Amino acid sequence: MRLGVLISGRGSNLQALIDATSDDAFPATLAVVVSNEAGAGGLKRAQSAGIPTEIVSHRDVKPKAAFEAKLTEALHLYKVDLVCCAGFMRLLSEAFVTDWKDRLINIHPSLLPSFRGLDVHARALSAGVKVSGCTVHYVRVEMDDGPIIGQAAVPVLSGDTPERLAARVLEAEHQLYPACVRAIAEGRTRIQGGRVIVDGEPRPIALSSLR
Ligand code: GRF
Repeated sequence: MRLGVLISGRGSNLQALIDATSDDAFPATLAVVVSNEAGAGGLKRAQSAGIPTEIVSHRDVKPKAAFEAKLTEALHLYKVDLVCCAGFMRLLSEAFVTDWKDRLINIHPSLLPSFRGLDVHARALSAGVKVSGCTVHYVRVEMDDGPIIGQAAVPVLSGDTPERLAARVLEAEHQLYPACVRAIAEGRTRIQGGRVIVDGEPRPIALSSLR
């Protein structure tokens, strides 16, 4: 299975996918990394790993339909089977989501459906939740919506700041994203009635396994 990763920033989840796919036994390869930001740190990570990169700027390519057509063109050029959003900060339109339906996934730093959107960790702390985590899901038109492939939970600790909680969740993200991609690439996922049935992994990551 050929992966295309969409990024906008530092690309630590991209790095987790680079590390996972560098193992010959992993059932997917990284075909291309596409960024909408020329300065995204993740581009350097991809280049260091010898993975092709493309920049499609939403500022230069307008309107949105043209921007998304360029994204699709880049993904097709590299024969991408599965598109992984990893800190990609543009909302995708219905047309794009429909074109890539069930071949487009995202990682979000909360236990969806709680805390969709931005400032997730500050909102989780304000709400006083005792457990947070991350979710990998198929993308649908609504933001941070869609069938859930996998989730990992981490504890919220007293004295947490949004930054400390974010770092703990991020560590879980780096385990969860490759585990979910692996499950898809091995054909162990199917969507039934808006839910994802996963055979075998990914199992929820135990609280105790994460700081
Ligand atoms: C991650 O927390 C991810 O869940 C969210 O954006 C952040 C991206 O971080 N969608 P990185 O660029 O992968 O380091």
